[in-house]
Amino acid sequence: MNQEVLLNLLQQNPFALAPMAGISDRAFRTFMRQMGCGVVFTELVSATGLKFSSEKTRRLMEFDPLQHPVGIQLFGEDLDHLAEAAKIVEQMGADLVDLNFGCPVPKVVKKGGGSAVLKDLTQVQKVFRKVRKATAIPLTVKIRTGWDESSRNSKEVTQVAYDEGLTWVTIHGRTRAAGYSGSADWDYITEVKNNARIPIIGNGDLTTSSLAIKRLTSSGCEGVMIGRGCLKNPWIFQEAKNKFLHQNLPIERDFLKVFESLEEHYGKCVSEKIILLQLKKFAAWFSSGYPEASNFRKKIFNLQDLTSLKLFIKEFYTPLKDQVPLDTSGESFLMGGHG
Ligand SMILES: Cc1cc2nc3c(=O)[nH]c(=O)nc-3n(C[C@H](O)[C@H](O)[C@H](O)COP(=O)(O)O)c2cc1C
Repeated sequence: MNQEVLLNLLQQNPFALAPMAGISDRAFRTFMRQMGCGVVFTELVSATGLKFSSEKTRRLMEFDPLQHPVGIQLFGEDLDHLAEAAKIVEQMGADLVDLNFGCPVPKVVKKGGGSAVLKDLTQVQKVFRKVRKATAIPLTVKIRTGWDESSRNSKEVTQVAYDEGLTWVTIHGRTRAAGYSGSADWDYITEVKNNARIPIIGNGDLTTSSLAIKRLTSSGCEGVMIGRGCLKNPWIFQEAKNKFLHQNLPIERDFLKVFESLEEHYGKCVSEKIILLQLKKFAAWFSSGYPEASNFRKKIFNLQDLTSLKLFIKEFYTPLKDQVPLDTSGESFLMGGHG
């Protein structure tokens, strides 16, 4: 997919699914595309791991035709490995290569990967140039606002991205030092957007579809990216799209159909043990804000087989069809990740 087509698709659906390690796997990406999101990304994939052709690394990159446009996110500190990995991404038929310059995890930054790259603009440029030369498909980057509060440099990174021919920059509105604490700084994202000569996707704390629309409009960003919000509300993308397109398409809030669909997608690519684990995780997350959720969550992880899990899910979720949950956006939720 060339840049023009990709940007056109972003214009039509500016709600991207965030890369989330351990979550944005093949099945979840397909599911979320069906639930209305726009571009999807794999979780971060080690370019060096790929070089040594680890089977596990390869599996993270697999995607279904239904997912297009799909980006494969790479991280690493070795320029040659990143360039080779980008070539593999292109050969696999993905639509874009996304670089992870946002990961705050010590194991990654200690080696100079993830958000550590942000500390050195020369290195930023070197990586962009090397990877840009290696592949013909669109290249994007996902960054933090900076390494820490005193060195926020998204404007500079965005300028380098423009100079080096990237297609867009996604900004998670926190510094590396902030981790997941505090709030994403949308004023700063807006400031960067106002100076940028390249499309910007804003990210961070879009817990509701109304907030996603509000931030999209007020920041002027070309797109917004949603991560944790869709783990509490699987309909968040449909709602956002409805609002964005001023449509009133009916949304069927039927959890049982959601679980059926997740089971179907996971059933195509993983073992029953993994299906069980994944369904438990989603069932626990989706229960946020509903009565008796904490009791439900406590019990669910003790269930040992799919049949009893499905029955338990059915009992809990059947009465919740079309019920609106309490707002739990003020509560801490998954306060750690790779970007
Ligand atoms: C469990 C988890 C895993 C994550 N993994 C990645 C990742 O692999 N790559 C990445 O760029 N960001 C990763 N992130 C960061 C998200 O993409 C996103 O930037 C962050 O969660 C803020 O957006 P949100 O408030 O909408 O969740 C991860 C976040 C979480 C919670």
